Amino acid sequence: MSTWLVTGAAGFIGANFVRLASASVEARLVVLDALTYAGNLENIADLVEAGKIEFHRGDICDIDLVNELFDRHRFDRVVHFAAESHVDRSILGAEPFIRTNIQGTAVLLAAARASWQDRQGKPLFLHVSTDEVFGSLESDDPPFTEDSPYRPNSPYSASKAAADHLVRAWHHTYGLPTIISNCSNNYGPWQFPEKLIPLMILNAFDGRELPVYGDGRQVRDWLHVEDHCRALLAMLAGGQAGRTYVVGGACERTNLDIVQRIALEADALLRRSPGSAAKLIRHVADRPGHDRRYAMNAMALQRELGWRPRHDLESALPAVVRWYWENRAWADRIRSGAYVEYYEQQYGVRA
Ligand code: NAD
Ligand code: DAU
Repeated sequence: MSTWLVTGAAGFIGANFVRLASASVEARLVVLDALTYAGNLENIADLVEAGKIEFHRGDICDIDLVNELFDRHRFDRVVHFAAESHVDRSILGAEPFIRTNIQGTAVLLAAARASWQDRQGKPLFLHVSTDEVFGSLESDDPPFTEDSPYRPNSPYSASKAAADHLVRAWHHTYGLPTIISNCSNNYGPWQFPEKLIPLMILNAFDGRELPVYGDGRQVRDWLHVEDHCRALLAMLAGGQAGRTYVVGGACERTNLDIVQRIALEADALLRRSPGSAAKLIRHVADRPGHDRRYAMNAMALQRELGWRPRHDLESALPAVVRWYWENRAWADRIRSGAYVEYYEQQYGVRA
């Protein structure tokens, strides 16, 4: 049986990934996560307790720990999610992004290279990256593809772009078998409530303001997290070393459209009159350097690996809104403590 190292699996996408992988793949899953503010052991506690994954709390920048894990487990796959992931936080302070996203990735690449030097079989390092490395599209530009040039605009996307470049260089120079996946905006269960969709859902439940940055006409390409995880599993099973794959839902929506849909869903779920939550929408100061539009052309992934998104936003979003309603206690536990300070700094009011 092969053994996989999954970094950052106590976060949003990683938690969904190990849930799907443990149910569908014959592999031992070893998780390394530092449990930063965004990491939550509760997201995967049932899997740990059931012995479906082995959990290690630790930092990907800790060279000794990472080398020790590689020596002990002789990993066949690395699935690298661990990162500082929130653009607004990167604008408030870039240092943790530079450390984890760049240095942490370099540590993992070096450990994989050392461990796989004399390795038989086909090990693979899958680096989970973002569409934001390609910068911003104009409204009439074609969607990004694997050939789009790198033009990161935020400290977050610049740190992810730097990590992508390291991965590319380790493949090109040392022959490390790597794949880079650049995916669009994910939505689904267990997303930390600083991100647009869970933040708006929870604020709508609580009757709090729905803070839309600028005119709210920015466009994101939304993909259900389960579809992203399936795309990653397809790359792990049949992807070609040295490749990049772009992943997206072909589901471009303005932020305002997303917030209005959430408001209507919340009204329906809480049996309030339609339009109540929409009255909470407030246009607030725009994000500095805000990218206007992202969109992905995932045709290569579809053609080569047979991947297709199974969820569509219209039918999946109501279920996601319901998930946050049914898991309010999970969200309440997260939204206490340090989150209160972040919310006050970002939005000028207490969470
Ligand atoms: P997240 O912020 O929810 O989770 C990040 C996880 O990484 C947390 O569990 C955290 O504890 C862990 N972590 C952070 N620093 C660490 C360190 N130094 N050592 C070990 N663990 C550490 O992020 P997410 O939204 O799940 O994103 C996961 C990955 O997917 C990131 O690399 C992100 O760039 C990428 N991505 C995210 C999206 C999206 O829409 N959320 C889209 C495309 C790509
Ligand atoms: O595109 C992939 C990226 O998607 C990932 O790489 C990032 O890790 C992930 O955080 C996400 O980045 P975004 O900046 O697109 O996501 P966020 O949820 O922060 O914001 C989505 C859009 O909504 C963006 O245009 C900013 C806007 N927004 C966000 C918040 C939190 C608001 O208008 N108001 C808000 O309060």
